Amino acid sequence: MTGPVRIAVGVAPPYDVVIAPGLLDELAAVLPPLPHARRAALVTTGDVRALYADRVTAGLRARGLGVESVIVPDGEEAKTLATVTTVYHRLAAMRLGRDDVVVALGGGVIGDLAGFAAATWNRGVAVVQLPTTLLAQVDAAIGGKTGVNLAEGKNLVGAFHQPLAVVADIIALASLPARELRAGLGEAVKYGFIADPAVLDLLERDPKAAVAGDPEVLGAVVQRGVAVKARIVAADEREAGERALLNYGHTFGHAFEVLTGYGTYRHGEAVALGMVAAARLGERLGVSEPGLTDRTVGLLAPLGLPTGGLRLDPAAVWEVLGRDKKARDGVRFVLCRTPGDACLVGQPDRRLVEEVLRSLL
Ligand SMILES: NC(=O)c1ccc[n+]([C@@H]2O[C@H](COP(=O)([O-])OP(=O)(O)OC[C@H]3O[C@@H](n4cnc5c(N)ncnc54)[C@H](O)[C@@H]3O)[C@@H](O)[C@H]2O)c1
Ligand SMILES: [Zn+2]
Repeated sequence: MTGPVRIAVGVAPPYDVVIAPGLLDELAAVLPPLPHARRAALVTTGDVRALYADRVTAGLRARGLGVESVIVPDGEEAKTLATVTTVYHRLAAMRLGRDDVVVALGGGVIGDLAGFAAATWNRGVAVVQLPTTLLAQVDAAIGGKTGVNLAEGKNLVGAFHQPLAVVADIIALASLPARELRAGLGEAVKYGFIADPAVLDLLERDPKAAVAGDPEVLGAVVQRGVAVKARIVAADEREAGERALLNYGHTFGHAFEVLTGYGTYRHGEAVALGMVAAARLGERLGVSEPGLTDRTVGLLAPLGLPTGGLRLDPAAVWEVLGRDKKARDGVRFVLCRTPGDACLVGQPDRRLVEEVLRSLL
């Protein structure tokens, strides 16, 4: 890669996603103007703090900001209102004002949590997203969805709050646990099927490099994924239409996550399996081109992502599919006609869906 790539997200006001290796060391130069900001609350966690917080703090200070770190517990279990409340108390103590900024440094959990705190603090302050997982760089940090979980379900409390900027440092991915990286690749693959087949070509050409964390390959995957997401978000900021296509593999995947209590699959793994199911359903319905399922399996397996071995009762999966919060009038699936071209299909036959699920057992 030569120099940082900037991808504009055309919402109002627009913002840039900047992508390159080493950007966390160049934050002062990369961040947009922060008019009147005096303070920054750096929300982060665990390993990420130890690895990257110092350089981020240095960059923010170089921009004249007073920086305080707000450390929250790691993991999905901490994505709660209780954690947000502890963040609010810290923001109050540091007197973070309307012109100040929250900086989210971490994976999708931190991005959602800090983004939600920023959306609601003082009725909304600016947030800068510094995603450090592949999943967050390619998906969660872009688009303005923020929120937390309740005991009753994931992401039930939230707000749309677009960031001021997103800075994705590809080098930060080098410290990711291997499984997190692979799960992020699962999420990235969806962009290939719904909009940009070049993502599939890249990963098919050299799956070993991708899994090994090669910055060239990951940089290209992030750029292409972000470009797709930016375009779709700009066209449909509040998820009224086209944005639903981003859920390719997710209707099935979400049901798999729910039924396994979120303990078996990382999100990107469940999505991988969900894309195999969607391809097979698409082929059976005559919507998807013949061979799409084989191509999906052939792509995902070398990335170390699950393509079978589902240990769930198809009838139970069907049950959960009907409960999906996005299922307005019955279940709708995103299907892929041919890589790069996706559509929404409503209410497929129950027996057909269960047959597809049995093929994944
Ligand atoms: N807002 C959205 O549009 C959107 C979209 C997709 C997912 N999400 C949310 O994202 C969350 C999942 O995000 P995730 O997969 O990034 O998980 P995560 O945030 O839990 O991060 C995974 C683990 O990796 C660690 N980590 C992060 N960066 C690291 C690095 N560079 N080196 C070493 N360790 C690192 C984290 O501390 C954590 O332990 C879910 O809560 C999901 O709901 C939101
Ligand atoms: Zn996802």
